[in-house]
Amino acid sequence: MIQFRLLGLSGSLRHSSYSTAVLRGIRDSLTPKSALEIFPLHGVPLYNEDDDAEHAPESVRTLRSAVEASDGVIMISPEYNHGMSGVLKNALDWASRLMDFRY
Ligand SMILES: Cc1cc2nc3c(=O)[nH]c(=O)nc-3n(C[C@H](O)[C@H](O)[C@H](O)COP(=O)(O)O)c2cc1C
Repeated sequence: MIQFRLLGLSGSLRHSSYSTAVLRGIRDSLTPKSALEIFPLHGVPLYNEDDDAEHAPESVRTLRSAVEASDGVIMISPEYNHGMSGVLKNALDWASRLMDFRY
């Protein structure tokens, strides 16, 4: 029986991404009590606060639900100009607004 449900976010959209390959490696080496779902970030639009409310884009609502349903999130990103990729930062911007839109 699965006790820990993990969500994996990769900051690279590249088909042959090393970052995503690391996530797959983690997923494939977990014990049977744990599961890792890799959430594809390809469909997540650029953050726009005008679109951010209960009617946020469907891919964003799916991402938020997946984060909420997980016991933990594993994030991995290539280094892009000494920081995380824009893909991952963008996903975090959407996901970080899950609980409270007032600040
Ligand atoms: C826009 C861009 C910026 C990058 N900046 C850095 C960097 O600052 N330092 C570094 O070591 N590699 C840098 N790289 C190389 C990537 O980190 C490297 O190709 C990585 O393997 C890509 O990850 P992926 O295989 O998961 O797609 C950069 C690549 C790109 C496309």
